[in-house]
Amino acid sequence: MKVQVHAPGRINIIGEHTDYNQGYVLPMAVNMGILLTAQKRSDKLVNIYARNLDQKASFSLNKLVPGKNQNWSDYPAGVCWTLQEAGYKLSGADIDFGGDIPIGAGLSSSAALEVATAAAFSHLNGLNIPEKKLALLSQKAENEYVGVRCGIMDQFASALSIKDCALFLDCRSLEYEHIPLDLGEHVFMIIDSRIKRSLASSAYNRRREECTEALALINRSTGMQKKSLREVSLAEIEKARPLMLPELYNRAYFVIKENKRVLETVQAFQRGDLHTCGSLINQSHEGLRRLFEVSCKEVNLIVDAAQSFRGVLGARMTGAGFGGCVVALVCRERIQKLQERILEKTRVTSVKEPVFYITAPAAGLQVTEVYTMGSP
Ligand code: GLA
Repeated sequence: MKVQVHAPGRINIIGEHTDYNQGYVLPMAVNMGILLTAQKRSDKLVNIYARNLDQKASFSLNKLVPGKNQNWSDYPAGVCWTLQEAGYKLSGADIDFGGDIPIGAGLSSSAALEVATAAAFSHLNGLNIPEKKLALLSQKAENEYVGVRCGIMDQFASALSIKDCALFLDCRSLEYEHIPLDLGEHVFMIIDSRIKRSLASSAYNRRREECTEALALINRSTGMQKKSLREVSLAEIEKARPLMLPELYNRAYFVIKENKRVLETVQAFQRGDLHTCGSLINQSHEGLRRLFEVSCKEVNLIVDAAQSFRGVLGARMTGAGFGGCVVALVCRERIQKLQERILEKTRVTSVKEPVFYITAPAAGLQVTEVYTMGSP
């Protein structure tokens, strides 16, 4: 049996660094993704060809060890590992994948690869694993096998998005709602700064720890036993402020405000108020830059150029930060001029020329069985 799987990347419209604080997020799948074909084998061997890299990897399903290789094949291997840890019986497969998501740009190419692999193995082995579970197993692969302590947003967006909608997800209950995005004359432009911070994953893990530390201090000073920053109010963090280093206070304050902004953005989209959405997007960036401190000067330069440009309703960094992409909600007829403005600004100061994509809310995971000549 052979399957073809498409799993998209994502942008996050708003709700950054809130997923691992059990909060709200509003990502949408983009029209770039991973296309993977997989054919079942009768033994336990997995052979993978990564078309874009022109590289091959092989591993045995019987010999998977978390955190061993440290290369791209950790993502599919990690997914096989979590599926088996969850009790699923897998046969080997011959896999070929490629895609058009820029790698390491913060558009979740790794989450898309994980979700595509999980779906392929589920299908080839007749496991019928629901999408929500595929997302959770993929996240577990990244957390425990690859060693990046990401939240659930990216895998969820890749697995469960639908066309023309954003995905409003409550990361505590994992309840979600598809929010129709009627953008009218506007589109989402992605601007890839092409800046990649080599220590991004350790800086990301550090932000998670800071949120946990902030929560512990808030609980200590208020006598509460809240399980996440999602449950903390602004009044409660004010109470804990004297105990907290300004940095920790800022992290917690940002998360609480960002959760509120997600709820307000959802409501604004629902009433067709794109101007309010844009202003919330701008506020989110301001917080990420000054309070959560995950932006960088090259990204800020692009955001500033976009935000001050006529026809742009809002712009912010998207994803974990430390480089990566900016999203801007821009009037269609101003796209060309905006690109020119950003190029003009970045030419003087940045080492790299940014790359532009126009995207629309795309469908999530798609699995198709492929019939080859002579197959039963
Ligand atoms: C990365 C992680 C997500 C999320 C974002 C920040 O994309 O994979 O889980 O935490 O960063 O919002």
